[in-house]
Amino acid sequence: MAMRSLFKIDEWQIVEEGFHPEINREAESIFSLGNGCMGQRANFEENYSGDSLSGSYVAGVYYPDKTRVGWWKNGYPEYFAKVINSPKWIGVDLSINGRRLDLAKVKINSFRRVLDMKEGYLERSFTWHLSKGHNVEIKTMRFLSLADPDLGIIRYCVKSLDFKGTAEFNIYMDGEVRNEDTNYGEKFWEDISSDADEGQGIITSRTLKTGFYVSSGMKWLIQKKEKTLKTTSEVTSKPGYAANMVKIDIKPGEEIVLFKYVSVQSSLNHNIKDLIGVVKNRLTYASDKGYDRLFKNHRKEWEKIWQTSDVVIEGDIAAQQAIRFNIFHLNQTYTGKDERLNIGPKGFTGEKYGGSTYWDTEAFALPFFLKTAPVAVAKNLVLYRYKHLQKSIENAAKLGFKDGAALYPMVTMNGEECHNEWEITFEEIHRNGAIAFAIYNYIRHTGDKDYLTDYGLEVLMGLSRFWSQRATYSENLGKYVILGVTGPNEYENNVNNNWYTNTIAVWTLSYTIESLSDMKTNNPGKFKKLTSGTGLRFEEETDFWQKIVNNMHFPFDEKRGVFLQQDGFTDKELKPAASIPDQERPINQHWSWDRILRSCFIKQADVLQGLYFLEENYDTEIIKRNFDFYEPMTVHESSLSSCVHSILSSRIGNIDKAYELYLRTARLDLDDYNNEVSEGLHITSMAGTWLAIVEGFGGMRVMDNCVILNPLIPGKWKSYTFHARYREVLFRVRVTKSKITVTNLSRNALSLKIYENASTINGFDKLEVKNKSK
Ligand code: BGC
Repeated sequence: MAMRSLFKIDEWQIVEEGFHPEINREAESIFSLGNGCMGQRANFEENYSGDSLSGSYVAGVYYPDKTRVGWWKNGYPEYFAKVINSPKWIGVDLSINGRRLDLAKVKINSFRRVLDMKEGYLERSFTWHLSKGHNVEIKTMRFLSLADPDLGIIRYCVKSLDFKGTAEFNIYMDGEVRNEDTNYGEKFWEDISSDADEGQGIITSRTLKTGFYVSSGMKWLIQKKEKTLKTTSEVTSKPGYAANMVKIDIKPGEEIVLFKYVSVQSSLNHNIKDLIGVVKNRLTYASDKGYDRLFKNHRKEWEKIWQTSDVVIEGDIAAQQAIRFNIFHLNQTYTGKDERLNIGPKGFTGEKYGGSTYWDTEAFALPFFLKTAPVAVAKNLVLYRYKHLQKSIENAAKLGFKDGAALYPMVTMNGEECHNEWEITFEEIHRNGAIAFAIYNYIRHTGDKDYLTDYGLEVLMGLSRFWSQRATYSENLGKYVILGVTGPNEYENNVNNNWYTNTIAVWTLSYTIESLSDMKTNNPGKFKKLTSGTGLRFEEETDFWQKIVNNMHFPFDEKRGVFLQQDGFTDKELKPAASIPDQERPINQHWSWDRILRSCFIKQADVLQGLYFLEENYDTEIIKRNFDFYEPMTVHESSLSSCVHSILSSRIGNIDKAYELYLRTARLDLDDYNNEVSEGLHITSMAGTWLAIVEGFGGMRVMDNCVILNPLIPGKWKSYTFHARYREVLFRVRVTKSKITVTNLSRNALSLKIYENASTINGFDKLEVKNKSK
């Protein structure tokens, strides 16, 4: 298992000391900023000729990149939606005495880059050594405001240490941007307008094909000793570019501070004709408020987040840093204010996966937001899929399904399928199960039963209709089977009867039947509306679904007493992953695909994913047997894997293994385990890390209208504390070696069970019990 700790360990910060150009792309990912509406990799403000991936993203603004495949198959989508590198707003080029700053070329000392997670900013400082007696200190700071999510703000300080000279700033907005990841090398943007004046500039660009307009504008000023200087600059405005170039005299010991305020607006939120006006208003607002106040408001938002979702670990700084890093990035990616937005596997930190939506959202991100954010946030995530129901029905129809069967896309931006590998697009259908389970999970956490009747059931019906058509009857087995699928473990393709898929399909059918029957009895008005809207033939359809439920084939190994990942899995040569030489890991970077497919090695939780979701249906003995069988063969080459294994390991009481797996997920990016941080961070798996603490070590579950806790504590930790929410009750759990303290931080009472003892904690009260884990 490769591992390289890239940065310094600290509780609240990620710190790079000394400039490491060889890992600049990694650093750009790690130090990314975002605020739910936009994101920015940690690219330098000034020109940099070294290796770098420019990344500035506007949520919801995407380009449909025409599909490229070796061999076209009917049913493939026309395009892959990509949230794209957007007009550059951070640009500030600096020259001193005519020499241009470029960190790939100049001599620097004392470089330091800091991501402060508590207050949500990125800072950079270094000394630029121009020649003997010519040294300049540079300090930059920027944030993407959480309080004003259209604003990005930069403070750029320049101080001559020992000479008199001239600093020249070129402050600009640039629409000439490209993606590295394009299928045909196309440009995704066209310039619409640009306008610049003293102290300001605005450019407007439009995405080709999708026609999104983005206007981004800047207003800047320069101060010396907190006094704003009167400046005259050379103003440039040309298609896709607006700039001001200004020269300032510098003297030893005197600091010059440039403030650049930027507002980014898109046609997702405003009429096209209003965009420029909105940008101008927002820039006036920003510059009137000023840096300090804008930063204060931003900090306050972070303070609120940390107050209600911080995890504190005593006795393990590496783990402490890692969990905060994960919570920080999740909150930078999604704020839950807009049901049109979702969570790309890499958030706004790179181009991989195109910023599109995967099953990661339902399986990993949703449980995190359900337990850390107000109900409205999680609701927007489930509504997102509700809004895509019609497109999913069309998607299924395109593949030959009928009568309102819905197949949700594997990858999507607007509801249309974007994925284009047949074994995934057509076969990785288990995603439909995660979407069904998300509805159930949302309701059990929030108690929002109306969601089921208002939205959820329509989706469940589409999903059940799909499963009932996708399952076929095997005369040979006398059972229903689901053939030709890819399970979560993508290192097996086109298999028959993937246990997880069959299980989640049957679960969906049962849940739909039960919910429909309940609605029929208790809410006949809505039931009638639903049946007429969807053409449901209640008796006939649910009878058939029930028949499938009763007669599904589940591959099982009698000898070992374990569920089989798929038919015939044990015919493989079964070997532990530990037998793979280190230099051949990850196998997906070293082995042929053919060799991977024939091997027994498992990319990510598959049978175990099912045992995790549907844990209530299985006893500890069964979970343990399956864990002991599958964990040794799992290579965890998807970042979504070790967290599930860690949670199950805690569930069966193996805290040491749980901790080992936890560390791997928690520091996946910080220690670049899979050697791919340069492409962006694993945002969705970060949610899994949090779950490994809260559901894993903390043993938190929500069942039967009650919170359940079964805490364990890793040997290395003195204590850990987490926050969680249940139906708008916020509470804090602190676990030490000797006791568990639960504090209710809200007015309403909280019912819970700790180690199976039921109790109620009144508003603002707390409960202390002995730690019984051993
Ligand atoms: C995983 C999928 C996941 C996708 C995006 C793949 O490597 O196998 O389960 O949805 O990455 O995170």
